[in-house]
Order: sequence, then C-alpha cells, then structure tokens
Amino acid sequence: MPSPVLDRYNNEFKDLEGFFLPMAMAAWDFLFCAQNALNIKGGMLEIGVFKGKSAVLAAMHMRDHEPAFLLDLHDVPAARDAIQSVKPNNVTFLKMNSIDALDDQRLEAMRGQLRWVHIDGEHTGYATRADLDTAAALLSKNGLICVDDFFSFKYPQLTASVYEFLFKNPFKFRMVLACANKCYICRTAWAEKYDTYIRENCIEKMALSENNWTLTRTSYLHDHGCFSIISRNKDRDFVGLDRDIDTRVF
Ligand SMILES: C[S@@+](CC[C@H](N)C(=O)[O-])C[C@H]1O[C@@H](n2cnc3c(N)ncnc32)[C@H](O)[C@@H]1O
Repeated sequence: MPSPVLDRYNNEFKDLEGFFLPMAMAAWDFLFCAQNALNIKGGMLEIGVFKGKSAVLAAMHMRDHEPAFLLDLHDVPAARDAIQSVKPNNVTFLKMNSIDALDDQRLEAMRGQLRWVHIDGEHTGYATRADLDTAAALLSKNGLICVDDFFSFKYPQLTASVYEFLFKNPFKFRMVLACANKCYICRTAWAEKYDTYIRENCIEKMALSENNWTLTRTSYLHDHGCFSIISRNKDRDFVGLDRDIDTRVF
C-alpha cells in the first residue's frame, strides 16, 4: 500500500503543474520506502525543478537533517513555496546550468553522499550524459539515479546517452527499474539488493492490481534486463520471459 507520505502528497500537491505521472509518483514512494527498509541514508539532488511537482515528493521523503539540492536554470518560486511547506530545513536552490553543477562548492562537498539524484533538466544527449557523470560523482554507495524521459520518442538522444553510460560502466552501474518514462540506476554492487527488494515487495506495496499495473521482467540483469512496470497485462501481477508465457492463452 502507498505510504502516508504519498497520501499526503496526493491530497496537497498532485495538481501542481508539471511532468510527473501517477505511476512515477507511486514508484518514487515505493523506492524511497525501499531505501528506508534497506537503511539507506543521504541527501538528494534534482536537476530540472520547474514548479516542483517531482521535487516536493522527494523532499517529503527526506529526513529533516538530510540535504536537498534543487537545481534549475531559472528561478523556481512555485517550487520554493511548495518545498518550504514540507521541508523547511536543509534545502538549497541552485540557479545554474547543470553542466557547472560540480563547480558549486556546496554540491562538490556532497561527493558520494546523495541517495537520490533525479535528472530532468536539458534533454539533449550531451547534457544528459554530463548530468549522469555529475550524478555518478555525487551518488552514495547505495543510492539511486533516476533519469526522466527514458524511452520517450521525443528525446531518442537521451536514451542513447543512458545506454552509453551503462555500457561504459558495467562494473559500476546497473539499471534496476524502468517505468512511467523514467529509469532507475544504482551502483552494480547494490543492484542485487534493489532487485530482490523489488521482486519481493513491488506487487503489494505499489498495489499493482488495484492500480491496473503489471510488474514485468522479460530478461536477466546480465542481459540488460531489469524490472519494469506497465499497464495491466493479461490481468497478471507479474509477466516474465516471453518464452515462459503459456501460448495457449494467445
Ligand atoms: C521538464 S522540466 C522539469 C519538470 C519537473 N521535474 C516536474 O516534476 O515537473 C525541465 C526543467 O529543466 C530546466 N533546465 C533545462 N535545461 C537545464 C540545464 N541545462 N540546467 C539546469 N536546468 C535546466 C528547465 O528550466 C525546466 O525547469
């Protein structure tokens, strides 16, 4: 079932203008709860804040002492107001181009310490690739990088840069979940823990049946497969390898 944080978010912030699908909200809530269950601590960074629709949910999941960095090219007054109401302390707004993120001493001091980095700024391939390098530098040993608009036909270059990053760093980074236009990447050493947590908890905690969603895993981690969540498929909670599907149902 969704956490009380998501219930509050849905009551107070769901209608904020922005780009954040209900399935992505549920996935974030699930993954932040996973980090709690796995005793993962650390701050967060969002690149590309706009009006704060996604940033607010992440900020709500941060503990009071955990830092939240919100970076955007422009002033984001609506996001400031919303985030102030849920996380009054340890929030830093950075008005800058993300290419220069590590020139900021406050971010530079966070190397290896963030448990959540959301990349949702400039959607060119080179900016995404640079943002992935920034995220990799800032990510803690057990945190997650989330990349927006993964497999969006509007931004094919963004998906190319995600795979270039993964292919260049197979011993360092793995994708563990993809759904609702976003993918989730962790350090390879932690991939099994996230993978197991998703396998054991996602169906129930994201209330997949009630939400009309299905968990899929159509190949192995070592085949660049990972869990994904899709619209309800054959009224199943889980769909696995294509070759395992009973052909009599077609
Ligand atoms: C798609 S919006 C972000 C949506 C937001 N995360 C939400 O939940 O609604 C993209 C944001 O990225 C910012 N942006 C674009 N290019 C950027 C860059 N190079 N560096 C930092 N921010 C950038 C834009 O100003 C815009 O606010």
